[in-house]
Amino acid sequence: MGDSGQGGRPVGYTPMIQQYLHIKSQYQDAILFFRLGDFYEMFFEDALTASAILEIALTARDGGIEKVPMCGIPYHAYEGYVAKLLAHGYKVAICEQVEDPAVAKGIVRREVIRVITPGTVMDEKVLLDKANNYLGALVSEHGSWGLAYIDISTGEFCVTQCGHREVSVLDELIRLKPAELIVPDTLKDDGCVPEILKQVKCYINWRPMLQKSLGQVLEVLETELRVGEDLAAQLYKWPLACQAAYYVLDFLQETQKQKLGHLTELKVYKPKNYMLIDAATRRNLELTENMQTKSVRASLLGVLDETVTAMGARKLKHWLETPLLDKNLIQQRLDAVEELVENALLRESLRKAIKGIYDLERLVGRVAYGSANARDLLALKQSIARLPQIAGLIDWVHSAYLRLLINDLDLLEDLFTLLDNGIADDPPAGVREGNIIKDGFNQEVDRLREAARHGKQWIAELEAKERERTGIRSLKVGFNKVFGYYLEVTKPNLHMVPQDYHRKQTLANAERFITAELKEMENLILGAEEKLNKLEYEIFNELRAQVEKNAGRLQTSANIVAELDVLLSLALVAIANNYCKPELVDSSKLELIEARHPVVEKLSAGRFVANDCHLEPPASILNIITGPNMAGKSTYIRMAALITVMAQIGSFVPARKAVVGIADRIFARVGASDDLSTGRSTFMVEMNEVANILNHATERSLVILDEVGRGTSTFDGISIAWAVSEYLLTRVKARTLFATHYHELTLLQEEFPAARNFSMAVKEEGNKITFLRKVIPGAADRSYGIHVAELAGVPKEVLDRANNLLAALEERKQDVRQTVREVAAAAAQKAGAAGSSHLPGLPEMQHFLGRLCKLDLDGTSPIEAWHLLSSFAREAGELLGKLSGGNHDQDPDS
Ligand SMILES: Nc1ncnc2c1ncn2[C@@H]1O[C@H](COP(=O)(O)OP(=O)(O)OP(=O)(O)O)[C@@H](O)[C@H]1O
Ligand SMILES: [Mg+2]
Repeated sequence: MGDSGQGGRPVGYTPMIQQYLHIKSQYQDAILFFRLGDFYEMFFEDALTASAILEIALTARDGGIEKVPMCGIPYHAYEGYVAKLLAHGYKVAICEQVEDPAVAKGIVRREVIRVITPGTVMDEKVLLDKANNYLGALVSEHGSWGLAYIDISTGEFCVTQCGHREVSVLDELIRLKPAELIVPDTLKDDGCVPEILKQVKCYINWRPMLQKSLGQVLEVLETELRVGEDLAAQLYKWPLACQAAYYVLDFLQETQKQKLGHLTELKVYKPKNYMLIDAATRRNLELTENMQTKSVRASLLGVLDETVTAMGARKLKHWLETPLLDKNLIQQRLDAVEELVENALLRESLRKAIKGIYDLERLVGRVAYGSANARDLLALKQSIARLPQIAGLIDWVHSAYLRLLINDLDLLEDLFTLLDNGIADDPPAGVREGNIIKDGFNQEVDRLREAARHGKQWIAELEAKERERTGIRSLKVGFNKVFGYYLEVTKPNLHMVPQDYHRKQTLANAERFITAELKEMENLILGAEEKLNKLEYEIFNELRAQVEKNAGRLQTSANIVAELDVLLSLALVAIANNYCKPELVDSSKLELIEARHPVVEKLSAGRFVANDCHLEPPASILNIITGPNMAGKSTYIRMAALITVMAQIGSFVPARKAVVGIADRIFARVGASDDLSTGRSTFMVEMNEVANILNHATERSLVILDEVGRGTSTFDGISIAWAVSEYLLTRVKARTLFATHYHELTLLQEEFPAARNFSMAVKEEGNKITFLRKVIPGAADRSYGIHVAELAGVPKEVLDRANNLLAALEERKQDVRQTVREVAAAAAQKAGAAGSSHLPGLPEMQHFLGRLCKLDLDGTSPIEAWHLLSSFAREAGELLGKLSGGNHDQDPDS
């Protein structure tokens, strides 16, 4: 066989297949959609893969030296097929004919114009209205990580950098749920990164490591995006964040092959400015999706979402994923919600104004991407038209935050006028078929339109004129694509056809003619229409470019509309469900009066029993909740966590009264769940989560523990649960609610004054018990597990046997209680003794100093040195905190 051609294939293929192979060699990792006339064709392995996934026929094409496997899809319907391939983990490269086949010499030039990947889809059918679609980039070095993420459908672009010890990158990735993540391939062997990626479950793009200095990277960021001085100064301190942002931009350039005008702003954020919610807690609390069904409806988001725009829905989700820590900011939101709750007229007027606003963010995205049609511009115009109604409400509004939002609203009047004058009222979906530009906007358009209109009028009148002239009463004027305009005469009337008619086509019972005059008019009409369509397309493109130039302004207004929508939604939900405005305090108090679980309440149709909750360290730190199965323990402790989250996003809460000390983190260790995909057993997962709590909770955290210790033998379980409680009580001092069936834990109260016992009330009548779902002070004495087993239909024989065994075991249990009591007393004594001989943080200190000693400065670049220094500074801060017994956590850049 001859030489090897492009892509390692032998030459001898037809020129077109050679062209295909050449292009394909540059896009090995994507399925190549190769444009051939009205189809995208796939060849070779791509054809085999795609035909199977897309369930389309696999054929073959003569490739010159062999038959080449081929399959194809109609070009206009490609989006659905692309979506399917993406869902199966493939990328798709779209290769177009980039010159007119009519004028091409030899084979038509073709180029890949775009690569579609899970993180860069723009197709409305793939994107979810109410969720973002993120493309992320992760960089990790020297104990720190940098993360950038972008949603190209909306233009949101954010970066951050953190220490691994400060904030877990896994938690941040789980929050974002990126569709695709770019990772430098040097991290393939980095101990923790592959482990993290396994849990993130998204499309991973390994890329070669960046060979650029921080200066070069910054320069690119500053030219591509508007980066002000403040931002530049921040970025300078965040080399990993810069690298991550660069990876994203570089990837976009490679896949999109065009500048996207809506990527204007780079936002920097710090995860520590938000309430930290780890991945397990997020799942356990069912903030944005139900654990079992994965549905949004049975989650907190489902209850709170009464938004009327897609932007608002996405914003609410974002708020819920990032509750605030800044009391003033939260208070501002709460005051805004309060005003909307109290002022019905304002509320209804605002809602009416917002309701008709389309998804401005994604419309702007499509404009920048070049896929917006005239209908999209019309939707933009109609949305902008609503803004003055919002602005008009300013005089009614008192709360600072609402005033700020409404004041900052850019009404975009210039853009409205432009679109109102330019875009026709009922444009078609296609952008090349005319009827897009309004009469009166452009003289040339008007002139051509008039010419075409005039010609058509002339033709309409021709029929009557010719009928009269020839006396053929059935004469008709018609049009078809092949012959253009014609005059049709039925066979019986042919003898009356005048001299100047030229025969063009013969049908079964009629003949078709043209006249010179008719052809002339036809040329005029068709010429005018062709010119008109082209001109309209050009003007439309100009209008689109004009909108793109204003992308930043549109995004700002879109953001304000989104926030107003969220505040309105929170107000409506507060009214509908009878929520109260929480009081925020600086201590770590949590006081709830007649509180309800927001989601369970909805499902229990008015039969929900409200409960109180009181925690106020240092006097009361740990509440132990015991009680029968099914009594409502888990519901109760989650309720406290959900209410805290709600308060910190600025929402009213389901209670008669709520005093909430702002929590820096919430931890919820709830129920047992296997995590087979990461190879961890139920108990291992449970202990991982417990370890995470004990290592990261602070005095300002809220901890929810549900049956910790359940995953192992009873004695192991009790011992662990006890030790964990002790640690939380004496060391961490974080507000904690602990639901348990280990009644031994109720003895904690005897030794530790900050521990309290509560139980779920039941009514016992004979052998029938009723769950009252009321939390009352004091410990429960029994679990009623066998009773629940009976309710569930376990056979009587088994129940009787279980009751016998229980009676025997209960006797022995006294021994366990006694032992636990003795151990507890000793522990409490120790805790009460002044100070502790054990110096917390000493081993870490030794380790830290050891690393400092071994530092090799000769082999370190200035940037790396800076980097090391900043990580040492952070670690030193943390150590200092440990040594002084507090939870002093130092900001890396303060
Ligand atoms: N306050 C309440 N008012 C009305 N119904 C409630 C209340 N609390 C819980 N429930 C109902 O009781 C069911 C069981 O509650 P939950 O799962 O909290 O019980 P539990 O005490 O944790 O049980 P187990 O010990 O078996 O885990 C819930 O699914 C809910 O439907
Ligand atoms: Mg439970």
